[in-house]
Amino acid sequence: MSKYVIAVDGPAASGKGTLARKLAEELGFAYMDTGILYRATALEVIDTGLSVKDKRDCIDGVKTLIKKLKKSPNVEKILGNQRLRDDDIGNAASKVAAIPAIRKALKDIQRDFAANPGNGYEGAILDGRDIGTVICPDADLKLFITSDLEIRSRRRVKELQSKGIPATYGTVLESMRERDQRDQTREDAPMIPATDAVIIDNSDLDADETLETALEIVKKRLNI
Ligand code: CDP
Repeated sequence: MSKYVIAVDGPAASGKGTLARKLAEELGFAYMDTGILYRATALEVIDTGLSVKDKRDCIDGVKTLIKKLKKSPNVEKILGNQRLRDDDIGNAASKVAAIPAIRKALKDIQRDFAANPGNGYEGAILDGRDIGTVICPDADLKLFITSDLEIRSRRRVKELQSKGIPATYGTVLESMRERDQRDQTREDAPMIPATDAVIIDNSDLDADETLETALEIVKKRLNI
């Protein structure tokens, strides 16, 4: 059983994934990137020749994905697919993620992980959009990581280019603006900070400074 749960939410390219991964390393906690589940659902739908604009197609896609993930040798192969990182898959993921039935289907995987992160782990860190509000409303600590849209777009362009994925600033900015808007305004589990979340705006902080800031908060709040 997990002794501690830390929720890390925030918009695209806010650095929440990098922070959550590093925090998990520092604290010896298990880590889950929940966005990958929505991305993998979108890719499943697209690869089957179906449409992320069609609710039924998305529901079929998530069911197939969950079945595949239950066969453990598949997990790494499916969630390690580099295509999942493409910007258009991020955008498709946010369409899929606006469907309540999809969010419901993916809820247990996330909650189970938070409660039982595996042998040897005292705690779990999950990053996403609704971890502090819906998935783990009783988390011991909730962080909401954010920064200016322009800064996040520049970060994402660098990240994509470093992986050899072609990206231009204007296109990434527009796609991120559209995605933020969709994630913030959907009816089910919109991306908003939990009322008891600590907000970290890292517009002027690099990844190490963001980690230092978060670690100070963790030490104060969790008494570890
Ligand atoms: O890495 P990045 O922040 O760009 O995206 P991500 O965390 O992989 O999430 C991709 C999309 O999945 C987001 O735009 C959200 O629409 C959705 N998502 C969500 O709705 N809830 C989560 N807990 C995680 C992701």
